[in-house]
Amino acid sequence: MIALRHITKRFRDGERQVEVLRDLELTVPRGTFTAVVGASGSGKSTLLYVAGALDADYDGEAVVAGKDLKALSARERAAFRNASVGFVFQSFNLLPALPAVENTMLPGLFVPPGSKAPSLGQLRGRALEALDRVGLADKAARLPGRLSGGERQRVAIARALLSRPAVLLADEPTGNLDAVSGEAVIQLFSAMVRDGVTVLVVTHEERVSAAAGQVLHLEEGRLR
Ligand SMILES: Nc1ncnc2c1ncn2[C@@H]1O[C@H](COP(=O)(O)OP(=O)(O)O)[C@@H](O)[C@H]1O
Ligand SMILES: [Mg+2]
Repeated sequence: MIALRHITKRFRDGERQVEVLRDLELTVPRGTFTAVVGASGSGKSTLLYVAGALDADYDGEAVVAGKDLKALSARERAAFRNASVGFVFQSFNLLPALPAVENTMLPGLFVPPGSKAPSLGQLRGRALEALDRVGLADKAARLPGRLSGGERQRVAIARALLSRPAVLLADEPTGNLDAVSGEAVIQLFSAMVRDGVTVLVVTHEERVSAAAGQVLHLEEGRLR
C-alpha cells in the first residue's frame, strides 16, 4: 500500500519558492493499480520520487509498503528502495554493453550492509525467472541494441521485479513505445497486480489509465 498524507513539495527557483505538490493525498491499496495522469510539468515525477523514497525533502507523511519513509535514515531508505520498490522509467536505462539477463541481474549486485550477497549463479537464475515473467526467456542473451523498444522496456520491468518488490512505480513507461508495445507493458502491470504488487503509474497518456482500477488527475499540486 502507498499512503501519502498532506504532501507538500517546494522547489526553490531563484528567489521564489514553487509549490509543485500542495497538501496532496493519495492512497493506493495493496495489490491495486493506480494511474496518475497530468500534463508535462504538473509534478508527476516529483510525486513518484516521494513515494519511491528517492526524495526525503517534503512536508507531510509517506507510508509505503508498511514503512514511514520520514523515519528512515538515508541508508535505510536505500535498503528500502532496493528491497521493496521497483522503478520503471520512460527511457529504459539499460546498459548497452550487457545482455538482457545481466541488465536484469544488476540490482541484485547492490547488497545492503549486513545482508548476505547471493551468488552470481543464484542471481542469474532469478533474472531468468524475471525475464520469463515478462515473456523474454528466449532473448536473455541479447544486447539491448538488438531488442525492440517494447522488449527493452520489458527487460527494464524484469529488472524492477528482480527483488520481488511490494511496490512498482513507473514514470511514463509507455512514452517511447508504439501502441502495441505499450499495451503489452500495461498488460504486464495488470499481471503483477494480480500477483499482489501495488502499482502506481504516472503518465500524460490517457490510454495507460484504461487498465488502472483508480485514475487520478494531478492538477495544481493536488489529485482529483
Ligand atoms: N530539482 C528541481 N528543481 C527545481 N524545480 C524542479 C525540480 N524538479 C522539478 N522541478 C519543477 O517542478 C515541476 C514539476 O516537475 P515534474 O515533477 O518533473 O513534472 P512532470 O513529471 O509532471 O513533467 C516543474 O515545473 C519542474 O520544473
Ligand atoms: Mg516527469
